[in-house]
Amino acid sequence: MKKQITVGVLGCGYWGPLLIRNFRSLPHCQLKAVCDQNIARVKHVCALYSDLEGITSPQQLIADRDVNAVVIATPVKSHYSLAKASLLAGKHTFIEKPMATSSQECEELIDIAERNGLVLMVDHTFLYSAPVRKIVEIVQAGDLGDIRYINSRRLNLGLFQKDVNVAWDLAPHDISIILHILGELPTAVNCQGNAHVTPQIEDVTNMSLLFPHKRFATIQSSWLEPRKIREMTIVGSRRMIVYDDLQTHEKIRIYDVRVERPPHYDTFAEFQYSYHYGDSYIPYLQQEEPLNLACRHFIDCIGTNSAPITGGRHGLEMIRVLEGASASLKMNGAPFLFGSRNGSVVTHSVAKDGAQYSQTRGTPRSAVGNAGNGLRAIA
Ligand SMILES: NC(=O)c1ccc[n+]([C@@H]2O[C@H](COP(=O)([O-])OP(=O)(O)OC[C@H]3O[C@@H](n4cnc5c(N)ncnc54)[C@H](O)[C@@H]3O)[C@@H](O)[C@H]2O)c1
Repeated sequence: MKKQITVGVLGCGYWGPLLIRNFRSLPHCQLKAVCDQNIARVKHVCALYSDLEGITSPQQLIADRDVNAVVIATPVKSHYSLAKASLLAGKHTFIEKPMATSSQECEELIDIAERNGLVLMVDHTFLYSAPVRKIVEIVQAGDLGDIRYINSRRLNLGLFQKDVNVAWDLAPHDISIILHILGELPTAVNCQGNAHVTPQIEDVTNMSLLFPHKRFATIQSSWLEPRKIREMTIVGSRRMIVYDDLQTHEKIRIYDVRVERPPHYDTFAEFQYSYHYGDSYIPYLQQEEPLNLACRHFIDCIGTNSAPITGGRHGLEMIRVLEGASASLKMNGAPFLFGSRNGSVVTHSVAKDGAQYSQTRGTPRSAVGNAGNGLRAIA
């Protein structure tokens, strides 16, 4: 019989209650306690689920001997200190995205988890979703041909965050999907943006990620759009995919379209592009809540003592990309080169399900510490 994992959740704001609902629903998992420093949020959750213990002290939850695993759904600036306390107390730890405020913090958390044999997972929820898993399957089967570029837009009105800019809040979803689809790390990032509403906190950003073999991805993130948009286009040499996460059933559509240049021609008059217009089709996707799959995966990894698909190293790679984007933002969009003098040396290795994205050597990046990471220093 599988061992029951006892879980406690820190943070009962917007996202915490969704995690609470999902962890409560899982077999082999007992949600014991929830904690928020705001007593009103604790009361709200405990009114929904009367069997839960509600507390306001994270230290008390972390110290609870019955709790095997801690789930952190608090604002980003508190992730590192809470996760460190949780890991040092011997608890398996699940951290909401983005993992922490700097790569140094991530490295320390990974080190503590590894030394103590604990599962450390970062919630990059979309990698557990059916559309993204289907897209990765199609790309890996070679059905799209060579990927030429990916364009992603994640736009809506709000929710304005106080401690992170829109790139740190929304782009982690797009970045995690793009890295997963391409299976490699970017060589450079450019990012431009503006803070229109809250001083120093960009509410609109445009990011470009450059990859080996001239592949690139663009990511537009905004809290200042009248319409909610969650759209990604993946352009391959043979076929293209449009992924619209707001659709209920038809989230991905594959277009059998392409453009080719004639291999040779003698005169300019003979030159003609060849446009191929084929069918488009919508693959069947299993309707499952991605967050439920992510929570289940965390519990399974603890039970089987295995590494999560989105473990600490995965979270670290994300933070490195965000740090590079913030450094570029400070340079008005000039490219930040990974592996350059002021960046760590990154070896590009392919990420497949269950594997880590890359191995990183060399010195931690010094040019983009906390001050340049898109996070506002809150005194
Ligand atoms: N995976 C996703 O799709 C997704 C979606 C939304 C938010 N998130 C992430 O979830 C996290 C929380 O976001 P949110 O929108 O719920 O924020 P929120 O501000 O709505 O809620 C955070 C809650 O944490 C509490 N809190 C703050 N510091 C605390 C501490 N030290 N101890 C205990 N409680 C504390 C606050 O009182 C608040 O109730 C963020 O990291 C965010 O990026 C992830």
